[in-house]
Amino acid sequence: MPTVQITTHANIALIKYWGKRDTDLMLPTKSSISLCLDALATTTTMGLAEKKHDSITINENSSPIQNASLINFLDTVRRIFKLDNYFIINSKNTFPTASGLASSASGLAAIALGINELCNLKLSQKELSILARLGSGSAARSIPGGFTLWHKGSLNDGSDSYAEQLAPAITWSSLRVIIVITSTTTKKISSRSGMQSSVETSPYYKTWLERSQERIKPMLQAIAAQNFHALGALAEADWLDMKEVMLTTTPTLDYWNTASHDVIAQIEKLRTNGYSCYITTDAGPHVKILCLQNQALEIVDQIHNIPGVLDVLVSSVAEAPKIEFL
Ligand code: PMV
Repeated sequence: MPTVQITTHANIALIKYWGKRDTDLMLPTKSSISLCLDALATTTTMGLAEKKHDSITINENSSPIQNASLINFLDTVRRIFKLDNYFIINSKNTFPTASGLASSASGLAAIALGINELCNLKLSQKELSILARLGSGSAARSIPGGFTLWHKGSLNDGSDSYAEQLAPAITWSSLRVIIVITSTTTKKISSRSGMQSSVETSPYYKTWLERSQERIKPMLQAIAAQNFHALGALAEADWLDMKEVMLTTTPTLDYWNTASHDVIAQIEKLRTNGYSCYITTDAGPHVKILCLQNQALEIVDQIHNIPGVLDVLVSSVAEAPKIEFL
């Protein structure tokens, strides 16, 4: 039986996705832009199962609750492609799972790629991105690697809502994202249910949609021109708007802890002292700092001793996923 090993990377949005226009097909309310992070890797080995059930292990754990949504995804894939195959999946992250570090993005992207290989589906990159999207929205952006744009699309069947590569990682090798880990526990409210509550209850949601959509074009220009200050300022503004949406959701979505607030305050202080660094966070307490290689280690030095900071990773932009048969 063939076994395939896939290495994928989580991605961090510079222009965020927070909310769906179709929850079954995972169609977003707006386009988003992200970059893949080489420090947040997932390695997944996959083979075909002999028995008619999936066997899934994530970080050496096989919990039926954790695996339920994954099996749901596999059932969807079997239905779409009329497959009779079941899978043995063993996935390992180099970072905490389900705590707001986008483990679902790298995890689901790997599984979509693995199914394509094992079942000989011969999908294009666009089709693979659409398939990964059905597992977890942001997984669509982990398929192409580098800098990616996930198109909102307008068709009801989702066939034009996929991520494409804007630029490979190599085009901007000095860009860094410092990932400040402030918790190893699973987040209380999943992004899936949190974003739906925001769509339904945040009075700020419509304003955010418009403002965030307007940032797409300047962000594309910032990436094309490798204009770090424009990229950082746009990303931070977009994060602040998403944060406002989260905080004005009922019940409120407060994903941050004391350490996250302290790290953010320290970055603001460093900025007034002449450092070029910008902040973003996602549906979790970790803080991500955008900076350039020449200041990355000095910035790490200024934050790693903050109480509650558990680990600090410095990441470059990651290339496309790697696939090999073992
Ligand atoms: O695809 P999900 O359910 O992991 O949602 C990701 C949402 C954010 O990380 C908060 C924003 C984004 O665009 O990645």
